Amino acid sequence: MMMMCCKVSLLFCCAVGLLVVVMFPSSCAAHNTNNNKNDNNKNIGFYELKNGNMELNLTNYGATIISLRIPDKHGNLADVVLGYDSINSYRNDTVYFGALVGRVANRIGGAKFTLGGKTYHLPANDHENTLHGGTRGFSDVVWTVQSHKKDKHITFTYHSFDNEEGFPGQLDVSVTYMFIGKNKLGVKMIAKPVDKATPVNLAQHTYWNLRGHNSGDILSHTVQIFASQITPVDKDLIPTGQFQSVKGTPYDFLEPREVGSQIHELPGLYDMNYVVDKSGQVHFNKVAIVKDPVSGRKMELWSNQIGLQYYTSGMLKDVVGKDGAIYHQYAGIVLETQGFPDSVNYPNFPSQIVKPGEIYKHYMVYRFTAS
Ligand SMILES: *[C@@H]1O[C@H](CO)[C@@H](O)[C@H](O)[C@H]1NC(C)=O
Ligand SMILES: *[C@@H]1O[C@H](CO)[C@@H](O)[C@H](O)[C@H]1NC(C)=O
Repeated sequence: MMMMCCKVSLLFCCAVGLLVVVMFPSSCAAHNTNNNKNDNNKNIGFYELKNGNMELNLTNYGATIISLRIPDKHGNLADVVLGYDSINSYRNDTVYFGALVGRVANRIGGAKFTLGGKTYHLPANDHENTLHGGTRGFSDVVWTVQSHKKDKHITFTYHSFDNEEGFPGQLDVSVTYMFIGKNKLGVKMIAKPVDKATPVNLAQHTYWNLRGHNSGDILSHTVQIFASQITPVDKDLIPTGQFQSVKGTPYDFLEPREVGSQIHELPGLYDMNYVVDKSGQVHFNKVAIVKDPVSGRKMELWSNQIGLQYYTSGMLKDVVGKDGAIYHQYAGIVLETQGFPDSVNYPNFPSQIVKPGEIYKHYMVYRFTAS
């Protein structure tokens, strides 16, 4: 059965000194009770959005961004997203190229948590911990295409069942990708628990290389991250529960600098949650700016999330991608806006628990320019 909704959500973002009001068409998750039956390749498709000279290619397998072609400073198009040529490669993927990850992105320490007096055990797919929703998270399921308006937007929905990957209760999820104005891409993620309270932390996991997906490493891209603090982690990348200033550390990107300028001082490389500074109105903050000096392409990111996982693909190793590309270490930058990792086990971290009747809302806006 399908529920029709006609509400419109408003998203405000402050871009270039102008208050931009972004209207996302509302979407309600279609109730799909046969979660596994539709998991064959014939229900999987490729979907294109076009906006002037920007072209976005997506698939409903994992609600994934496959490619984004955008102009450089001379107007030449390049695909700036790491990805694969076939669905079977996406099924095989272990690095979450372009995917929508959940039910809980990032790590849950000890693969368990306690909620409402009950302890929930999850699959341990990253040492003893749970990463990106378990062994078959939202990045590895077939989403329903709820609406697709060429040139404008696409909405994918997924009905997560009770106890899926060990998480409590059913959850209706939707993600909408849409072009906004001339050069912005919006992502709206919505989740509604049906019957039980559950942790929710969705994240978009695209690897960006603004010089072109097949152009080598991103170490000479410059990055600025609007965050004064990080949540430090142990050797398995589980938060210690503390907060630490970035001042005087290789994590300080408050001023723009090259990705590679201090990367070798970090044994664990960049895979860290930043606490986003409040800069915007109605909780919508500027999160990061990435620039490639060679192509002149620039990507700015805004979001309503409190955290940003900054990952510079230090763990990538000879992954065979699109057009015969081989992606090596540092081939892409991942900017995952989200709640704090393992917040379900840290009462001092803002809660990601969503109860029936409440709505989880996660907005991102990317702006692409070149000069
Ligand atoms: C979208 O991506 C798939 C997989 O890489 C590819 O087969 C397809 O041709 C692409 N479509 C467009 C319009 O680029
Ligand atoms: C999937 O992974 C296996 C093992 O790494 C590999 O042998 C196979 O070629 C891969 N298939 C695709 C379609 O990438």
